[in-house]
Amino acid sequence: MTEPFTLAHLSDPHLPPLPTARLRELAGKRALGYLNWTRNRHKYHRREVLDALVADMQAQRPDHIAVTGDLVNLALEAEFTPAQAWLESVGTPQHVTVVPGNHDAYVRATRHRFTGAFEPYLRGDAAAADMPFPFVRRRGPLALIGVSSAVPTLPLMATGRLGRAQLDALDHKLAQMSAEDAFRVLLVHHPLHSGSRMKRLTDSKALRAVLKRRGVELVLHGHDHVHSTVWLEGADRQIPAVGVPSASALAHRHYPAAAYNLFSITREGNQWRCVQTVRAVDTDFRVKQIKQATLL
Ligand SMILES: [Fe+2]
Repeated sequence: MTEPFTLAHLSDPHLPPLPTARLRELAGKRALGYLNWTRNRHKYHRREVLDALVADMQAQRPDHIAVTGDLVNLALEAEFTPAQAWLESVGTPQHVTVVPGNHDAYVRATRHRFTGAFEPYLRGDAAAADMPFPFVRRRGPLALIGVSSAVPTLPLMATGRLGRAQLDALDHKLAQMSAEDAFRVLLVHHPLHSGSRMKRLTDSKALRAVLKRRGVELVLHGHDHVHSTVWLEGADRQIPAVGVPSASALAHRHYPAAAYNLFSITREGNQWRCVQTVRAVDTDFRVKQIKQATLL
């Protein structure tokens, strides 16, 4: 058996606090989002929760950290500098990989702001590509494949979309990788199965078809702010798709308290082994292991 490689996964920090918005920034979709934040969300997304979670995660000394989007809330210009500082406190671009969420591309005006702000954290290993997604980053036995499902949407909608060009490029990259012996992890903000018309990945069927044809070992996502494991059809075996709660959340309504996952990945003969450990924040802001599961 090989030495374990540990991948940590957190998502949806929705970095609090929300800076005061300028009036002219609050047209359209942001006006509703701003009201929602000031009336509700600020109560549940708390910086001290996020800080406790990240400190615990860093103490576990993972080999790499994946962050699957929603770093900011309304994609206001003033949100990106604190979000960059926060991500730098999580780790270096060599050690941390991000993909954007719908809140990072909240409105058209700042839809490409995320890619600019976090470029070192989503730069693929290959020389400059014409489009930033999908990117591939090799770390130890892993090939981290990042896609962007973040698109601006109408008010009250939180759907995502990869689009044909990105799906075709993903299919091509996975085909090129098929001869290599990497543990392939797909990072995407939106889950591939959603019961909600308002929140779903609209071309998830096409993405699932690519995964069925080419296979990956693991899919990691956020967006729903709940724990979830769904099994997708893969090329020669089923693929676990794992979602995680918001990294800054207090438990509220049906949403659990903030948590992150650790995936311990080893090679046994010609098989991958992957064990998931879930660590969650309790009411005293202490972080404890709440579950362990063998995925592969
Ligand atoms: Fe989110």
